[in-house]
Amino acid sequence: MMSRTALQRAAAAPVRALYAQQSIRAASAWSNVQQGPPDAILGITEAFKKDANPKKINLGVGAYRDDKGKPYVLPSVKTAEKKVIEGNHDHEYAGITGVPDFTKAAAVLAYGAESAAVKEGRVAITQSISGTGALRIGGAFLQRFYPGAKTIYIPTPSWANHKAIFLDCGLEVKQYRYYNKDTIGLDFDGMVADIKNMPKGSIVMLHACAHNPTGVDPTEDQWRAISKAVKDGEHYPFFDMAYQGFASGDTNKDAFALRHFIEEGQNPCLAQSFAKNMGLYGERCGAFSIVCSSPEEKTRVDSQIKILVRPLYSNPPVHGARIAATILNDAELNKQWLGEVKGMADRIIEMRALLKQNLEKLGSKQKWNHITDQIGMFAYTGLTAEQMTKLAEEHSVYATKDGRISVAGITTENVGRLAEAIYKITG
Ligand SMILES: Cc1ncc(COP(=O)(O)O)c(C=O)c1O
Repeated sequence: MMSRTALQRAAAAPVRALYAQQSIRAASAWSNVQQGPPDAILGITEAFKKDANPKKINLGVGAYRDDKGKPYVLPSVKTAEKKVIEGNHDHEYAGITGVPDFTKAAAVLAYGAESAAVKEGRVAITQSISGTGALRIGGAFLQRFYPGAKTIYIPTPSWANHKAIFLDCGLEVKQYRYYNKDTIGLDFDGMVADIKNMPKGSIVMLHACAHNPTGVDPTEDQWRAISKAVKDGEHYPFFDMAYQGFASGDTNKDAFALRHFIEEGQNPCLAQSFAKNMGLYGERCGAFSIVCSSPEEKTRVDSQIKILVRPLYSNPPVHGARIAATILNDAELNKQWLGEVKGMADRIIEMRALLKQNLEKLGSKQKWNHITDQIGMFAYTGLTAEQMTKLAEEHSVYATKDGRISVAGITTENVGRLAEAIYKITG
């Protein structure tokens, strides 16, 4: 027979086990980790999924869709991928800076076949984990080596990830004026004034084309003035070119700003992405490059880029880079790809025109010129957060609260319904 104390101890055992469990839980290394704020795009995706309306429209996605609203695999990419597979490559590691056939061709695509910097061998380039990775390497390089203040100026607004990337690189992030909400266009005077007022030698980040989120780009003349302001201030230009070819349909035209700065004697750095213009989103194919003042400087910079990349991810993935290299280095495939990029750009330009036309046909009293003046995947509609909520709740049209819509989500089939929804809300 158990004694009274033994009985009491046995009865208390489950309680003790519970306390023990709780104290383990309380002592978890992560007990102080706070829940992060909800992601805006994920929020849209969730709400979109839950909506039972068969005519719902998702304009929150940052990826190209065809006129049926489906993801698009470029035929040139399909052919190139077939060639890569038939090439029977092994799966050995790439070098730290990636696949050389890819990086060489990526530099020519960005800087131009006639680029003196490329020809003189003074462009240090590394493959990167798409555009995001390129920005991250760039931010880390500047944080480590930039001789001036470690502050980077980004436009207001900018792609939301810019601030996060550069802060995580240990840079201070400040902003310059870019978007004028009254004109739903570029605040050119504000932008130039802010560049002129930055401390000498500041780092200025510029969207090379198809500004995300506004779709508002400077004209070529405005770029000339911006270049002069950057040069006069002895600032350091950092270009983000995530949409080369995707904006106008012409890869040379979209590289105008970058090439003009270089012609004017500036030596920028550049983040490139092949996510949009080749539809290689998930392959994470991109490049980061720095235009140096001499081949000797390039060699030193190159060595430090390698030292930076090695402890980050050792070396980049090869498949997407092989596909991109096949397209860029094969004259016929390259020509085909350029046609397909233009096809994507043209579809977006056409959807902008159709949306504007439909709104006008409905008798909208608002001006919608900005829809067709803007360029690239995104349009800043000028709608308020309240109006965007109404669009979602009353019309099953989902996009971010800042009024940005992905034009890639518009199709010939849904554009009429979209215009009606916007008209009902804005008049
Ligand atoms: C302005 C801008 N920069 C960079 C990126 C990077 O994209 P990824 O990392 O997919 O190449 C994006 C993607 O949306 C972008 O809009």
